[in-house]
Amino acid sequence: MVTKKYSLDKSKIKVLLLEGVHENALKCFTENGYSDIECYKEALSENELEEKLKHIHIIGIRSRTELRKVLLHKAPRLITIGCFSIGTNQVDIQVAKMLGIPVFNAPFSNTRSVAELVIAECIMLMRGIPEKNALAHNNIWMKSANNAVEVRGKTLGVIGYGHIGSQVSILAESLGMNIVYYDIEKKLSLGNARPLASLKELLRVSDTVTVHVPSTELTRNMISKDEIDLMKTGACLINASRGDIIDYVAVANGLRSKHLAGVAADVFPKEPASNDEPFVNELQEFHNVILTPHIGGNTLEAQANIGLEVAEKLVKFSDTGSTIGAVNFVEISLQPHISKQRFLHIHENVPGVLREVNHLFTSRGINISAEYLQTDPDIGYVIIETESELDKTVINDLKNIPHTIRARILY
Ligand code: NAI
Repeated sequence: MVTKKYSLDKSKIKVLLLEGVHENALKCFTENGYSDIECYKEALSENELEEKLKHIHIIGIRSRTELRKVLLHKAPRLITIGCFSIGTNQVDIQVAKMLGIPVFNAPFSNTRSVAELVIAECIMLMRGIPEKNALAHNNIWMKSANNAVEVRGKTLGVIGYGHIGSQVSILAESLGMNIVYYDIEKKLSLGNARPLASLKELLRVSDTVTVHVPSTELTRNMISKDEIDLMKTGACLINASRGDIIDYVAVANGLRSKHLAGVAADVFPKEPASNDEPFVNELQEFHNVILTPHIGGNTLEAQANIGLEVAEKLVKFSDTGSTIGAVNFVEISLQPHISKQRFLHIHENVPGVLREVNHLFTSRGINISAEYLQTDPDIGYVIIETESELDKTVINDLKNIPHTIRARILY
């Protein structure tokens, strides 16, 4: 049988981009053939959003738009959500999953921005600049080489050699630093970086320690009094990871006793929810401390990267069914399909559904040329490719299989 190639009519796919997501997102959609795209600079009111959600297929939001259970249940056509942010707290991702809606974000778009800030802080701290800067602002001329050292030839200890930690390592090496790192996972060392077997060892040998681990049970207060005591006298400490990883009371004591020469902190256990709220922290009294308001990842480049990264994931899912990078979904990587129909079927993970899906095709004499399945304890996601002439009734029958959450056809 001659197979006719149909193509997805992207003009029918409605895209809604809110909160002024970066223009790269719009560009990505249009370059990939999408034309029905509405963009808003601000978040919509809940009523406006509810109205839009009746019709749209793809939504892109930042942190001000909340997509909670009630709203998600009022979005019958929504196939995917893009959080143009690092986190996804603004969406009930489990509810979205059970509705068959993968949620994407951009976890690593600001990696470089954080790494650059850390390098700048490392140099500033080791030269004693924050203190000299503070004194100069108070009419005091402190021209002295005391405690001011080059970073070249010094040892940087990186705790957590993931995306940010390894970028920091590469940049620091190019400044002539020696890098040691500690990670609970086995990692491929880049450049001259050397893994150390224990955190204690890292703390003992490093001139500056920088922390790049996630907030977990294991990492909470991972740097506290005992760890600070292990650090070299005159060492510096940088935290641009999460506020609960370092005990700042212990850090304040380390600064008071002059055991620590300088500290940079971008993240805190208690951070103001908005710029209108006051910020209070025990490190504010020290001139040799750089305090920044959780802006490690806040650069124009990071925003641009986020715009592109999330839009690409949304387009890929819409075009191919690929869920790589989804935060709430089983991951299937798929290439664009050629001369085939592709059916997507998302169902509750109960026994027998796959058998029914397969039976639906085989009972009609439709040959399944490829099939991909991934499951988690809650859902199953199966993709079926066929070479037969298009049979539009298949999609309706797929939707009617018991325990089906959602079914789509990509021509
Ligand atoms: P990642 O997941 O790529 O790397 C984290 C690394 O820490 C992994 O290699 C992991 O194996 C390691 N790790 C986990 N638990 C550990 C433990 N107990 N001991 C030693 N190593 C451990 O994460 P990424 O992207 O590098 O981010 C690191 C941190 O930076 C995260 O806490 C993240 O939230 C934070 N961050 C802060 C930003 C800011 O604006 N200041 C912006 C972006 C991320």
